[in-house]
Amino acid sequence: MNTPLLAETKPLATGPFGLPLLSFIQRDPLGAASHFQRELGDVANLRILFRRVCYLFNPEAARELLVDHADDLCKEKRLLKMFQTFQGSNVLTTEGAVWERQRRIVTPGFSAKRLLGYMELMSAAIDACIAAELPSVEGDTAEIDVDALTTRITMDVILRTLFSHVTTREEAADTSVAIRALSKQSMREAYWPFVARRWLPFPGRAEKQKHLSKIDTLIDRHINARLNAEQPHELKQDILDMLLAARDDQASSGNATLTSQEVRANCHVLFGAGFDTAASALTWWIGLMAMHPEVVSRLRMELETAGSDSTIETIARLPFLNATLKETMRLYPPSTALITRVAQRNLQVAGILIPKRTLVAIPIWHLHHDSRWFPEPMVFRPERFLPGAPGFPRGAYMPFGAGPHVCLGQHFASIEMALIAARLIAEFDFEFADGQSLPQPYVDLVLKPKTRIRVRFQRRRASPTLQARTRPR
Ligand code: HEM
Repeated sequence: MNTPLLAETKPLATGPFGLPLLSFIQRDPLGAASHFQRELGDVANLRILFRRVCYLFNPEAARELLVDHADDLCKEKRLLKMFQTFQGSNVLTTEGAVWERQRRIVTPGFSAKRLLGYMELMSAAIDACIAAELPSVEGDTAEIDVDALTTRITMDVILRTLFSHVTTREEAADTSVAIRALSKQSMREAYWPFVARRWLPFPGRAEKQKHLSKIDTLIDRHINARLNAEQPHELKQDILDMLLAARDDQASSGNATLTSQEVRANCHVLFGAGFDTAASALTWWIGLMAMHPEVVSRLRMELETAGSDSTIETIARLPFLNATLKETMRLYPPSTALITRVAQRNLQVAGILIPKRTLVAIPIWHLHHDSRWFPEPMVFRPERFLPGAPGFPRGAYMPFGAGPHVCLGQHFASIEMALIAARLIAEFDFEFADGQSLPQPYVDLVLKPKTRIRVRFQRRRASPTLQARTRPR
C-alpha cells in the first residue's frame, strides 16, 4: 500500500491554534476522524495547541507502532494524571516500571486456568439476571431496553468474579449510573488543558466526588472485609483474592505484593473497564441479531450440533458464535477513543516518519470500517471471521488494542460475551420493538447507541440439548 510520509500530507485549515479542530474532535470524535481521513488520507497530520497530532489510518503502521515501537512511546502524561484522579495508580493509569510491575502481578489472574474458574461464576450471574429480567413462561414477551439488560448482566458478572458479590437490581442500576457519570466526566476532563485536582473548583466536581465515593465504598467494603477477617477466610477463587495473594517473582522483597492502595486502584479499573465495554458490545450484538434472524437460526444450529462435549468451555469456543461477536466489535468497537500515544523519539513506522513528541491517535473505528480490507464495511457479515475467509492486515482489526498494553481482560470478555450470547439465543427470539432499527453510535468513553435500542424478547421452547448446553450445571 502507498503510505505518504508525514511531511508530504497537506495541513488542514485549522483556525487559531487548532482550537476549532479540538472542539470538532471533542464534539464528534468519529466524525472528526472521518473528516481527517477524507481530507488527508492514511496519515493525517494536524497541529492543535502547538502540538503535532497524527491520526494513523494505515493498519500496518498502527500495529507496528503499538507492538514493535512500544518502548519508544508513552501514554500522554496529562491523561494518565487525569485518570488517576478517578482511579488511583493502576495498570491503566501508570507507565514504565510501575506499570510493568503491576501488569506482571495482575496478569496471572486472567490466565486460562483462572478463566475456567470464573466461568462458573459468570454462568451463575447470567442465570440469575435472565430469571430476574426476562420472561420465564414459554410464549411470553417483554419489551426490553437492551442497554439496561446488558449492563445488568455484565455488572453482575464482574461483581461476582471480582468480589464474589451478588448484586441486586437496584444496586446494579445505582452503580451503573455512577460509573456512566464518571465516564462522562472523564471524557470532559480529557480535553481540559489542566488536571482537575480534588481541591480545585471545576465543573462537575461535586458530582464527581459523589459518584467516586459510591464506587470507593463498594470496593473498600470488600477489601476491608478480607483484610480484617479474624478467621483466615476460605479462598473464593475471585479476582480480589488473586490480587491480595499475587506476588511478583521479579521484585525485590519489599514490593513483591500489591499495596492495599494498589489493590483498590486495580479493583477500580477492572470494575470500570470490565462491564461497560462488554455491555456495549452485547447491546450492539442483540440489535444485530434482531435484524438478522437467519444468523440466529445458524447460531442455534451450531449450538445444537456442538458435539457431545457440552461443557461451557465448548460454548466459549464455537466458531460461528465467536465470529458474530467479532464482527459486532468490528462494526461497533466498544473502546474507540482511548488509544493514543506520544512518540518519545523520531520514529519510522511502515515508511512513515513520526517526529518526536507527536501525539499519535489510532482510530480503531476507521481501521475497522476500511473498505480496502472489509468490502462493504457497513454490512454485518460474520463470515469474515470464519476459518478460510480472505485475510486482512493484522492492524486492521484491533478491538482490544495491541502490544504490551493490549486489553488485560480480552479473554475474560470474549468468554463472558459468548456465554451470554449463547444463553440468549437458546432461550429467546428477538425483534425490534415498533419497527425500530439500529441507531447511530456515539462515543461516551465506550461506544453507545445515540438512542435507546428496544427489543421484544419472546421466551421460546429451547430443545433439551440447547438447555443442557447453555445453562449452568
Ligand atoms: C469487549 C470488551 C472489552 C474491550 C473492547 C476492551 C478494550 C480495551 C482496549 C482497546 C484497551 C487498550 C487501550 C490502550 O492500548 O491504550 C484495553 C485495556 C485494558 N482493559 Fe479492556 N476491553 C474490554 C474488556 C475488559 C475487561 C472485561 C477487563 C477486565 C476485567 C478489561 C481490562 C483492561 C485493562 C486493565 C486495560 C489496561 C491494560 C494496560 O494498559 O496494561 N477490559 N481494553
